[in-house]
Amino acid sequence: MARTLIKNGTVISPTGRHDFDVLIEGETILALLERGKSDSLSITADKVIDAKGKYVIPGGIDVHTHMELPFGGTAAVDTFETGTIAAAWGGVTTIVDMALQRYGENVHEGLAEWHRKAGGNCAVDYAFHQIIGGVDEQSLKDMTYLVDHEGVTSFKLFMAYPGVFYSDDGQILRAMQTASENGATIMMHAENGIAIDVLVQQHIARGDTDPKYHSYSRPSLLEGEATNRAIVLSKVAGNVPLYIVHMSASEALNALAEARHEGLNVFGETCPQYLYMTLEDHLARPGFEGAKFVCSPPIRSKHDKHDHHGDLWKGLRMNELAIVSTDHCPFCYKDQKELGIGNFSKIPNGMGGVEHRMELIYQGVVQGELSLERWVETCSTTPARMFGMYPQKGVIAPGSDADILVWDPNKKTKIGINDKHHMNMDHSSWEGTVIDGKVDTVLSRGMVVIENDKYTGRKGHGKFIKRGLCQYLN
Ligand code: URP
Ligand code: ZN
Ligand code: ZN
Repeated sequence: MARTLIKNGTVISPTGRHDFDVLIEGETILALLERGKSDSLSITADKVIDAKGKYVIPGGIDVHTHMELPFGGTAAVDTFETGTIAAAWGGVTTIVDMALQRYGENVHEGLAEWHRKAGGNCAVDYAFHQIIGGVDEQSLKDMTYLVDHEGVTSFKLFMAYPGVFYSDDGQILRAMQTASENGATIMMHAENGIAIDVLVQQHIARGDTDPKYHSYSRPSLLEGEATNRAIVLSKVAGNVPLYIVHMSASEALNALAEARHEGLNVFGETCPQYLYMTLEDHLARPGFEGAKFVCSPPIRSKHDKHDHHGDLWKGLRMNELAIVSTDHCPFCYKDQKELGIGNFSKIPNGMGGVEHRMELIYQGVVQGELSLERWVETCSTTPARMFGMYPQKGVIAPGSDADILVWDPNKKTKIGINDKHHMNMDHSSWEGTVIDGKVDTVLSRGMVVIENDKYTGRKGHGKFIKRGLCQYLN
């Protein structure tokens, strides 16, 4: 089996920084050797990667992506091939995408469809959550089958999007009761979709049709309310593991923090867009450009009574928020976002970002928001543990998959459609953003997939990862 040696770098883990060389054999990590030991032991390798002055970290894990999702009258434009190549460019070596079951559809067929889309096409490893858009007797049974046999152990429900993916409180409670029996994690899109729909109709009726009204019609209070309601329902179901996705608002974070302090099995993620973007600077751009930033929950105002950005960064530091994902759901501006010209509610909801999460959260390290260790923890190690993939993923340790990102803190990255951009969209949500660091080399199960500013991977290298249960439960 081929051996690769990553020499002279600093390995970063959630618990510290160590000058280790990393020896890889085939697809797995064989040993970590103290600096100098690989020379004194005369270790040989087929390939040596010099990581002097660089950080060596477990490959990023993005636990919230939507490749090829049919949504908003169109479909997300990244295929599993383009999306996982972009992920590799961003130092991400595993994605967890959301397979889809809609009302009236069969869960097994929804999952099979996702296997068809992804199988043989991925550049890096992938796993699935299952969206349950129609909770009924059959889909509840199917949930248990997926946990027991398919390696799909988490299910996303929606308190938003009535008539599309929405579940009412009774359906949510029943799904949670099922999860309390089979051990699954319930992932929740927590926004009060019924109230939001009223506000949307009122804005449109008044002629307030620009993209920025997307945010005005989805107030942060309604994210807080739904988050609290989801937590209460999970408690009623018996402290079932609940993971609130794409959190954008202080009110929601406060509800989550309170539940966590109570000792409940409740967790949360946020995404880079909620840490950096504002209604004023992005959604309210002149003309229709704000449509690029329409996602749900929406980008919040910088003039709110809450400092949402500050609170979310603090939540990440305090482990109130466990994970940063991207909610990668890319749509082109031309013909897709443009579906909502004259009516913001017709703009497909979502932004592309799978390529930039490691970069953007590293910039948080540069800005003093997070430690290097917490960067690794929130973007790699905790995602692996939260979704049952540890220690195969999320850690640089003997026996683990050789999924590794070598990060250069001395180079810069300029993000933009004519700079660094490998996603399938016709624009970049992060146009012009400069990062004080750079993805240097990326290995996916021992295979170098990014090196010397080139993609060296291969479609079909990425394999499906069957997951276990959440590894954080009380
Ligand atoms: O706007 C978003 N978030 N689009 C993707 C679907 C979802 O709700 O996660
Ligand atoms: Zn969602
Ligand atoms: Zn999503």
